[in-house]
Parts: sequence; structure tokens; C-alpha cells
Amino acid sequence: MPSLNDIRSTFLDYFGRNGHRIVDSSPLVPRNDPTLMFTAAGMVQFKNLFTGVEHRDYTRATTAQKCVRAGGKHNDLDNVGYTARHHTFFEMLGNFSFGDYFKEEAIPLAWNLLTQEFGIDPDRLLVTVYHTDEEAVKIWKATAGLPDERIIRIATDDNFWSAGPTGPCGPCTEIFYDHGDHIPGGPPGSPDEDGDRFIEIWNLVFMQYEQFEDGTRRDLPNQSIDTGMGLERIGALLQGKHDNYDTDILRALIEASAQATGTDPDGAGNVHHRVIADHLRSTSFLMADGVLPSNEGRGYVLRRIMRRAMRHAHLLGAKDPVMHRLVPALVQQMGQPYPELGRAQSMIQETLLSEETRFRQTLERGLRLLDDEVAGLAEGAALPGGAAFKLYDTYGFPLDLTQDALREKGRQVDIAGFDAAMAEQKAKARAAWAGSGETADAAIWYDLAERSGNTEFLGYDTEEAEGTIQAIVQDGAAVEVAKAGDTIQIVLNQTPFYAEAGGQVGDTGIIATTTGTGRVTDTRKVAGLYVHFAEVTEGEIKRGSGAKLMVDHDRRTLIRANHSATHLLNEALREVLGDHVAQRGSLNAPDRLRFDFSHPSAISPEDLARIDARVNAFIRQNDAVSTRLMSPDEARALGAQALFGEKYGDEVRVVSMGRGDTGKGSDGKTWSIELCGGTHVARTGDIGLFALVGDSASSAGVRRIEALTGAAARDYLAGQEQRLVQTAQVLKSGTAEVPERVRALLEERRALQNEVAQLRRDLAMAGGGGGGAAPGAEDVNGIPFLSQVLSGVSGKDLPSLVDAHKARLGSGAVLLIADAGGKAAVAAGVTDDLTARISAVDLVRTAVEAMGGKGGGGRADMAQGGAKDAAAAPGALDAVKAYMEGLPA
Ligand code: ALA
Repeated sequence: MPSLNDIRSTFLDYFGRNGHRIVDSSPLVPRNDPTLMFTAAGMVQFKNLFTGVEHRDYTRATTAQKCVRAGGKHNDLDNVGYTARHHTFFEMLGNFSFGDYFKEEAIPLAWNLLTQEFGIDPDRLLVTVYHTDEEAVKIWKATAGLPDERIIRIATDDNFWSAGPTGPCGPCTEIFYDHGDHIPGGPPGSPDEDGDRFIEIWNLVFMQYEQFEDGTRRDLPNQSIDTGMGLERIGALLQGKHDNYDTDILRALIEASAQATGTDPDGAGNVHHRVIADHLRSTSFLMADGVLPSNEGRGYVLRRIMRRAMRHAHLLGAKDPVMHRLVPALVQQMGQPYPELGRAQSMIQETLLSEETRFRQTLERGLRLLDDEVAGLAEGAALPGGAAFKLYDTYGFPLDLTQDALREKGRQVDIAGFDAAMAEQKAKARAAWAGSGETADAAIWYDLAERSGNTEFLGYDTEEAEGTIQAIVQDGAAVEVAKAGDTIQIVLNQTPFYAEAGGQVGDTGIIATTTGTGRVTDTRKVAGLYVHFAEVTEGEIKRGSGAKLMVDHDRRTLIRANHSATHLLNEALREVLGDHVAQRGSLNAPDRLRFDFSHPSAISPEDLARIDARVNAFIRQNDAVSTRLMSPDEARALGAQALFGEKYGDEVRVVSMGRGDTGKGSDGKTWSIELCGGTHVARTGDIGLFALVGDSASSAGVRRIEALTGAAARDYLAGQEQRLVQTAQVLKSGTAEVPERVRALLEERRALQNEVAQLRRDLAMAGGGGGGAAPGAEDVNGIPFLSQVLSGVSGKDLPSLVDAHKARLGSGAVLLIADAGGKAAVAAGVTDDLTARISAVDLVRTAVEAMGGKGGGGRADMAQGGAKDAAAAPGALDAVKAYMEGLPA
């Protein structure tokens, strides 16, 4: 029985033998396509080859493409676990022709693979074609000798495939497998086609049109082929199974889930294991491709899938987090064809563990609330939207998780009510918006934006411009005039001031009118308006008047350099660390730049040095920075990097810089291409210099790099250099020898410290150690008594010194007090022959008490204690002697 891994290889080898380039799966996050949430078909990475925008050195390709269908247009999440063939993650096997062969070759290639290589019984196969496609009918007859009743004409969209509302599309032919009349269901096109008897296994699309937004459809420059066969489906067929979840990889994951939870894989918990197995795949593969859980966009879809799996683990009775423990099984099953899984394994495990640990804290309480709500509902009634919203808002239950939980109870959620509750919360948030910490009422801005429209930004081309003052806001209220000393916010119809966005800080500068002047301290965007935070420095500023706007040129110049350097850094990181690097946040301030990105571990000093060197190399290249406006489609065609979760309108700004061999851009030689609304240098050389000054962990799976450019970078490096030179001077060495000299000195220091400690002990034994009595015993009440106050000896050395003195005396008592940085350590010893008369414990306690302390303990022959004030030590020795004098003779 072939494994899924075998079937994947057989498929790729077969098309490889037939002249197809075997191309790697593209990432699950479609590069450069801000319109798609996840890669959901094999053709996604080839879209531009079909339309003729892009050309490669091959015209036939074959892939096993990772796909996720959850969130966005293609969404199978709700059904996963309950059906035989729904997945959030699956692999699509495909062969592609870009203006090379068409139907006449695609159909025989497919038929041959199925019946010869895979050995499927031809009598069990039947096909559908688009109702007008007589050509396909003819080819099927000629190729497979299929009778008319097994070539079914379909007039619906089922046999006309397109990836989305626009783009390449065409009629298709689908190949079905008949599982036999013991399973209910009719052939495609029949009333009971939804039954399980006839299963679609392969879709061959005859790409021949391009669909445009205005509804028109044009012929593609070349007729092409796009096919898709779910690996899990063909796997089930070839492994003699009817259910995709019985194929080897998914079965192994189901068993791992059963083992981790100590439950039966096929018992009552089977649905839960299926959900877990599927969601383990989608979440792990998404994280391996740089998506991290969050509350927005792709990250939120990932979190929803995770939480759904975690609830099912909970339903299995798992007391502790489960998902992370299953990752090794997944890596074992799929790590070889998809090495990115193994590379990201520890990051995936850590992320799953922390998500599941946190979610479990609210999961049980949320489920209890849900039970309470349901208990109060009428038979079959839907859960009110407000309750579903509370679960979402307070307990972190995504809507689909609540729906999934209710499914078992045969109930639904009032979605309209949920949406209304969500909208109400957004309205409240809008109302609570507090003018970026100011008291301004958000309503003012929204009203103004509605009345006068968005501010037009002129600052890409100019740093000085004129505008009309449309509104002045002071302390949250609109005013007509502001006087010198007033702190206000100003909105104009247009401005050259950049408003904080995309990590780039807002501009500062001057606003001058004929009646007065203001100093702009910050600019921010609210509801499409550019709000200038200003202080009136002179005269009066009046609403309705014209104003001259001047951006602080020096500051903007520094910001520009930092922003452009950030783009170079982003590309250098991807080059050195890998394509999983995705931007998570950035700051472009005048004095520094900061860049956060997904990366699971610390970066080695060698890699940091390489990154720094790459950025500087592209600065020295001094390539012109180009900024263009284009449609998202055009940007995508160029290979532009887009940010997750960002919304792009009809027109996007594309910033490119650097010449490299990465195959990006219209010439295939542009190094960095990003969608970006910020302001940039004219040539990379304007950045001057780049210095990486910090690398740290920002949050789980996210690293942060801080860097300087231009004069700040030079000053930083000069400071480093100066400290090195000073160090060399102190060491009286050349700068090159500094590390070796410092190492040697530290070594020497350690040796000397040991030696000093030893000498201090020796000195104390010899009666030195400062301030104490001479090292001889005196006679106190007939007992030879040796006492001494020591400095420079640590308390822990005292017992061995006491022992040494006892040995020397042969018979007698010893009391030592060490002055350890103002605190006193006390130790006393009594030779065995005298312990009946006198106890070391009493000696220590007497001394400690005399120094204002309390306590001390040990045995009659050896005791220790301590006190706060070593200055009283000499008095303590006297007190001990007096105590001994008082003992009975
Ligand atoms: N792109 C086609 C599909 O996804 C093959 O079905």
C-alpha cells in the first residue's frame, strides 16, 4: 500500500519524466498578493505566468502545494472533523502548462497516471466536462474510450474554474471515482450527487480567459493548463479507504492525539482526534511560514484554528496542554518533504504551549457560561448574539468555536445579534478615542472628515506647501482662533507633514499664517485627517486662513535615512536568516530605527555581522530609490513584499532599492521591493552608514533589531573606537592586542584573588590580620584562652582557623571575631578536655550579645554566630573574658 509520501513522489516523478519542472510548494502566505489570505490552490504561485505578465525558464511545471482553506473566500473550518473530506490544511498535487500543451495532452497525461501508474480500474472512472466543451468530450472518448454516459456535461460553475473574481479562468473537466453501489449517492449532475458514492479526485482546468473587474473577459495570450488533485483524496483511494482521515499521515496524527490524551483513537472521541490532527497540520504549517497568533487578519485565523483544536483536546478530558506534544509526530510524518517544519519545530511547540496554557485559563469558565445560557433557551432556539459576543470578548471564544460547541447541541448562533454587539463595541471604542492622549473628542474628527474629506498629503514631493486651515481644536472642542501659548490641533485641506504610520514617526516643523505662527510638535492621522499637534508661538492662528507649512528638513532627512535603511535591513534579514522573516513592527525615528520580525531564536554574532555588512554594501551601491504608484496586481507582479493584515486600496505605493540577483522587479534584478507609504532617500548612498547596535527578543518568536544610520552611526562607531583606544592606552598595548591582554589580566586576577585569600588565612594563623591580640593564649580563670579580632578574613574561614588554633593549643578555648565589611562573624572553639567546664556556644552568645546581637549556635566544642556591629568587637572580647572569670574554678 503506497504511503502519502510515496504517492506524492510518484506524482512529481511522473510529470518530471514528462518534461515538467518540479517546483517547490510556495509559502502558505501568498507573497505579494495582498488580496489573498492563504494559498488555497496550486496555481496561486503561477498566476502571473498564466496571464503572461511573468516568464520563467520553463513552460511546464508540477508541484505538491501546501494549501490552507480557513478564513477568507475558501473556508472549510466549520466542517472539519465531522466529514470525511474537509480539511483546513491539505496538499494539492498539480501539473501546469504555461502556453505549452493544452487539453489534447493534459487529458491523456492524467488518464495515463491514474490507470497505468496508479493502477486504478478504468471502469470505475467517469468525468464531467463544461456543457459546451465538445472538444474535451472528443479527447476523452479518444483517450479513454469512455462511453457517453460516463462523460457528463455540466452547465454550472462547477465546471468553470476561477481563482477569484478576477484573474485567469476557464472551463474544466473533473475526474470522479465510483466507490460502488454499496455507498449511497448519485453521479455528478444528478439530484443526489452530494452522496458519497462518486468522489471527485482531480480537476483539470483549461485556462483560456482572464476575468476583469468590470465584468469583461479576454482571451489569455496562451492557452494553459492548471490541475489540482488533493493528495489526501487520491491517497484514500489508493490505500483502499473511504475517509481521508484513514490515510497514513492523518491516521498517525490521530493516534498521536489518542496517545497524548490517553484515549481511544476510534472511540467516542474520534471527532476530536480528527479535528486535532487536521488543526495540528494547518497551525504548524502556518507558523512555519511566519504567521503568529494575533487578534487580526491571518494571525487571528490561526488563533481561531488553534483554539478550536484546544477545545476538542479539552473535550477529550486532557488536563494539560496537548497540541505542542503532537508536533514531533507531525515533523516525523511530514518533515522530510517540508523541511521548514523541522526548522521551526521548537518555535511551533513553544507558541502552541503558551497559547494553550493561556486559553485554558478561560476555556472552562467560558464553556460553563455557554452551558448556563443554553439551559435557559427554548427547544432549538439559537444562542443570542450578545451571549456569543460575551464569550468572544471576555473568554476569547472565536465565533466559530462557539458555533462548533453548539453544533453538538444542535443549536446555532444568532449571527446578526453577534455582529450588532460587535458593531456597538466598535462605536463605543470610537467614542472613547481620546485624541491620542489629548482630550479631543473623536466625534470632532469623524464629523470633520465627513464634511470636508480626507487631507491630501503632498509630502512625498515637497517639504513646504500651502494649505487652508479647516479646523482648530483646543481641549477637545472646535475653536475659531488660538492665541500665543495655546496648545492646539490643526487640520488643513492639504499638508506636506507626514503623519505617523507604518513605523515612521510624524513630522514636526512650522505653520505660519499672516496673523500668527505655530510650532508643530507631532502629526498623526485620524479618520483620514492629518492632525497637526501645535503650539502657537506668536500672534493668532485663525480658522479659514491660508497657512504656509514647513517641515523640519533636518529631522525629516534623518527619518528618511532610517526608513530606507529599514527596507535594506528587512531584505538582508531574509537573505541571511531565511524567508520566514516577516515584519512584525518597526520604528523610524530621527535618532534611530527599530525593526521587529518573526524569527524563533537569537541571532549569532556572525549572522549579525553579515546582516550589517549586507546593508552597508547596498548603501555603498548608491542605487536610486524608486517609488511608484500602481495597482496591487502590478505590485504583486513585481514581487513586492506586503505586510500581513494591511489593507490596500486600488492604488499602492511600491518602494524599490538596490540592485541584486534575487529575480525581483520587472528587470529581475531589484533587491528590495516593498509596499510602503513612508518617505525615503533619493539614493541609498544618502543613508551614509548603517550600524547595528542591538539585537534582543521582543516577544515569543519575535526578534528586535535596533540600528543607527548616518552621523549617529558614525558617532556610535567613533565612540566604540575611542573606548578601544583608551583601553589600549591603559593596557599599554596596541588596539589589536586588547582582547588577549584583557583575557590574560582576568586570568591573572583570578589567580591573585586565590592567593590573597590563602595568605589572609595564613596571616591570621600567624597572629596578623590586624587589630587583635597577639597570637598566644592568656590564662583566664585557669583556662588557656586565645582571642582575636580579624579583618580581611571572611566568616566562612573562621571555623578552620578556630580548629587550627585549638590544635596548636592542645588544651584551651578560642574566640575569633571577623570584621566582614562592618558586620561581625563570630566563631568559638573549646578543646574536648574542657567542654565539661565551658561551652563554645556560651562564648559565642556572650560575644554576640556584647555586640548588640542575639543568638549563635553549634556544639560545645565549636560554635558560630554573627552580629551587625563589628566596631564593638574589642569590647566583646572583654565581655567573654569577664564571663570566663565568673565560671566556677
Ligand atoms: N486550480 C484548480 C483547483 O483548485 C485546479 O481546483
